[in-house]
Amino acid sequence: MSETLNTLEQTALESLQAVDSNDALLAWQGKYFGTKRSKGELDAALSALGTLPPAERPSFGKRANEVKQKLLAALDTRKEQIKQLELAKELQSGAVDVTLPGRPIRRGRLHPSTQALRRITRIFGQMGFEAYQSREVETDELNFELLNMPAEHPARDMWDTFYTTTPGVILRTHTSPGQIHAMRERGENGTKPIRVILPGMVYRYEQVTARSEMQFNQVEGIAVGRGITLADLKGVFVEFARHMFGADGQIRFRCSYFPFTEPSVEIDVWLGTATERARVLTKGTGWLEIGGAGMVHPQVLKNGGYDPAEWSGFAFGLGPERQAMRLYGINDIRYFWQNDLRFLEQF
Ligand code: FA5
Repeated sequence: MSETLNTLEQTALESLQAVDSNDALLAWQGKYFGTKRSKGELDAALSALGTLPPAERPSFGKRANEVKQKLLAALDTRKEQIKQLELAKELQSGAVDVTLPGRPIRRGRLHPSTQALRRITRIFGQMGFEAYQSREVETDELNFELLNMPAEHPARDMWDTFYTTTPGVILRTHTSPGQIHAMRERGENGTKPIRVILPGMVYRYEQVTARSEMQFNQVEGIAVGRGITLADLKGVFVEFARHMFGADGQIRFRCSYFPFTEPSVEIDVWLGTATERARVLTKGTGWLEIGGAGMVHPQVLKNGGYDPAEWSGFAFGLGPERQAMRLYGINDIRYFWQNDLRFLEQF
């Protein structure tokens, strides 16, 4: 009878060596140790125990147990080997080929407004202007009063204002309140010259058209020093236009009025009248207004902490979206905030 066990042991161990997957291992286990539904060959061999003469039973039982332990140990070893084999197979199939070229990452783009703002900031930066930011929610005092526009002043009509529910608190209609902040915060009580630009968003309760939005950026600039004149303002702008619009970047100054500068000017850039777009944007004149400017009014200098008998300065407020329209051939300002990817992806 022990012959049967020897043969079973030998064939089982041999066939186990041929097993090379988890499925085949399960099948092998089922064959020798049985499954829920069927008896295994080892059990079948053991069931012969009852038919043996009593004297042979102990040695047969002992041998049968030995075979069982041996097969179980072999099963464990094979299980571990197969685990390693499967892992190696998996690693091979999922291996990363580091020599393959990478997948291109889709890069985002800068909004045309941001591009124009950065360009303007860089040009003024090269001329020694420091950029800093001022708040978008302002007080009536800073936005109007300290800029020579007390309550009921008719010039307030130039800026249709968004009011908040808090009395005296508004959305700034222009970046000019930044002039006061800059003088007070950087001028050290009117003792130090300043050269600052303040880019940022402004809000106006305005009729929206191809050239006017109710939300747009401005870049305020202010230079205060001893002996600064309108000629300095002109020089700075001729230089600015050359860098901003290239050699053909013609600009002109027009007399204008702002309560916080005296004298005041408006600055236009030449767009021409050759295209329908240029005619619409320039109202047929060929000139597109890009900013207001002037010499800082003595009272505003005082409000900023400077003595106007000793100090003078110029200030300006530019519209970067209008300049982006000139630079990139955009014919309607309304495209800027519509978030239409077909527009934004062009920049
Ligand atoms: C002002 O806002 C003055 N604070 C400018 C200034 C600053 C004058 C310092 C003197 C000294 P104005 O409202 O003209 O001025 O606006 C300045 C520029 O902002 C305009 O030339 C134009 O380029 C741009 N701008 C004005 N309104 C709009 C609008 N609705 N949409 C887009 N851009 C506008």
